[in-house]
Amino acid sequence: MAFKSGRHFLQIPGPTNVPQRVLRALSRSTIDHRGPEFAKLTLEVLAGLQRIFQTSGPVVIYPSSGTGAWEAALANTLSPGDKVLMFETGHFATLWCNMAASLGLEVDFVPTDWRHGVDPEVVEEKLIEDQDHRIKSVMAVHNETSTGVTSRIPLVREAIDRAKHPALLMVDTISSLASIDYRHEEWGVDVTVGCSQKGLMLPPGLGLNAVSDKALQASKSANLPRSFWDWEAMLAANKQGFFPYTPATNLLYGLQEAILMLEEEGLPNVFARHDRHAEATRRAVRAWGLEVLCADPQEYSSSLTAVMMPEGYDADALLDLILKKFDMCLGIGLGKVKGKIFRIGHLGSFNDLMLAGTLAGLEMGFSLAGIPFSKGGLAAALEYLQGNHNEHKG
Ligand SMILES: Cc1ncc(COP(=O)(O)O)c(C=O)c1O
Repeated sequence: MAFKSGRHFLQIPGPTNVPQRVLRALSRSTIDHRGPEFAKLTLEVLAGLQRIFQTSGPVVIYPSSGTGAWEAALANTLSPGDKVLMFETGHFATLWCNMAASLGLEVDFVPTDWRHGVDPEVVEEKLIEDQDHRIKSVMAVHNETSTGVTSRIPLVREAIDRAKHPALLMVDTISSLASIDYRHEEWGVDVTVGCSQKGLMLPPGLGLNAVSDKALQASKSANLPRSFWDWEAMLAANKQGFFPYTPATNLLYGLQEAILMLEEEGLPNVFARHDRHAEATRRAVRAWGLEVLCADPQEYSSSLTAVMMPEGYDADALLDLILKKFDMCLGIGLGKVKGKIFRIGHLGSFNDLMLAGTLAGLEMGFSLAGIPFSKGGLAAALEYLQGNHNEHKG
């Protein structure tokens, strides 16, 4: 392929742009993962992750993608034949459901139109119906990356409590962690699943579980087969800053740097930045005369925006053209919305001018592809950004 000058725009909703500071940290020499310097690093990143997940409980780090962390959540807490309640909020919820079924769990998979999040009322109804407590876990994808819909986890927690049901609550925060406010402990979540390549601004390769006391308790009697994913061996070794097998040493250097950066900015400022870029993006979409896939403003995602194509136009063809002409990647539609939507990632290491470039590339792409739209999306976004500066708090 011919050399392309200038900067590539990686605006998919993860993996996200890895900042220079993190890249430099990743390039340090690999050290002995059984030595004292490494133990110090582990203990520091584990404490940092507790602050990111907003929990005082343990966090487990696997050398894996997010899918591994999904499996770890299930394998550590459940037994063959256990029933779980899940919601078909989109492609990733569907994949997690398929995984649960393939591990031998019985899934009650509640359909949605892929434009809404988990309905807390349905959670409550289903749990009240479940008099003999066959449902062992309620599972939700916090930010459904395939649709740009963010489920309201505190309301799901309240629904479980109102039903007085003992089910665990497991939440996938793969595309919300360190981008959208998320509180593992305060929201009473039992297992939170995360990974490295989105809000944490790292390359792919780390899978994360934040674990509650109740989930740890459940792991003592749960008997789905597990070995690599076993929390027990991991937590025992982590106490001294070590791992039961070779960890992803250099990614942990990157994680240490990323946590420093997130805390220099301040987590509330990080969340406000994502909210602001998301609002500017939605204003651009509306000014173009297009529609945001997420149907409920209370569930708008701050890490990505999924946009519906006008009837009869193919989103994948548009994205191919934008890649060829402007060297920018955007997220394709996945699963049942393939070709019908595209997704703009505005999470991770990101700023106003990167958003401006992204929207400019789209606007030029629409014109070249002959897509019916109104000009002025970029201008509408810029106007909003100018009028709403982020006042960084201390
Ligand atoms: C919400 C969500 N869950 C799970 C996954 C799967 O993670 P991975 O591809 O890292 O295995 C993704 C990937 O994008 C995701 O967005």
